[in-house]
Amino acid sequence: MWQQRIPDETRLRYLADLLELLPKRPDVLELGVGAGVQSSRILAERGRLTGVDISRQQLRRARERLPNATLIHGDFTSVELPRATFDAVVSFYVLNNLPQEELAPLLRRVADWLRPGGWFLAASRARTIPVGVASGSEQRCTSPAASPRRTGV
Ligand SMILES: C[S@@+](CC[C@H](N)C(=O)[O-])C[C@H]1O[C@@H](n2cnc3c(N)ncnc32)[C@H](O)[C@@H]1O
Repeated sequence: MWQQRIPDETRLRYLADLLELLPKRPDVLELGVGAGVQSSRILAERGRLTGVDISRQQLRRARERLPNATLIHGDFTSVELPRATFDAVVSFYVLNNLPQEELAPLLRRVADWLRPGGWFLAASRARTIPVGVASGSEQRCTSPAASPRRTGV
C-alpha cells in the first residue's frame, strides 16, 4: 500500500495537534478520504467524519473501516456540501496531484465549509500550499510546513 512508504508519525502528530484545537466531538471533513486509514479512523471515532473521494473502489474499503462515517462519492472540487458545517477540513497526500489553478478555488470552498474559527490541515509530499487565499473569514490554516496560524486575510 502506498501509505506504507510514508512515515506515518508525522501525520499522526499533526492530527493530534489538530484534535487539541477542536471541540470534544468535532465535525470533520476529509478530502480524498481514500481507503479509511488510521488517521481517518481516529477522526471517525473521536467525532463525526464526512469523507469525500472520487474513487468508488477506495470508498468501498473505507466503508468497511469507517462504519460510522458519512462517505460521499464525488469530486471535492465540485461536490456540494453545506457551508459553515465543519470544525476542521483535513486532506492527507491528495492536494499534491491537484492542478495548480484548481488550488485557490478549492481553498475558497474549504473556507466556506468551515465554521468560523475552523481549521484546515493538509499534508502534501511535494507542494507548498499557500495559506491566505481562502479569504473573507476567520479561517485558520495549518500544514506540516508551518505551525498552526491564522490566514492573513
Ligand atoms: C494518495 S490517496 C490518499 C488517500 C488518503 N487520504 C490517505 O491518506 O490514505 C489520494 C486519494 O484522493 C482521492 N482523490 C484525488 N482527487 C480527488 C478529487 N478531485 N475528489 C475526490 N477525491 C479525490 C483519490 O481517489 C485517492 O483516494
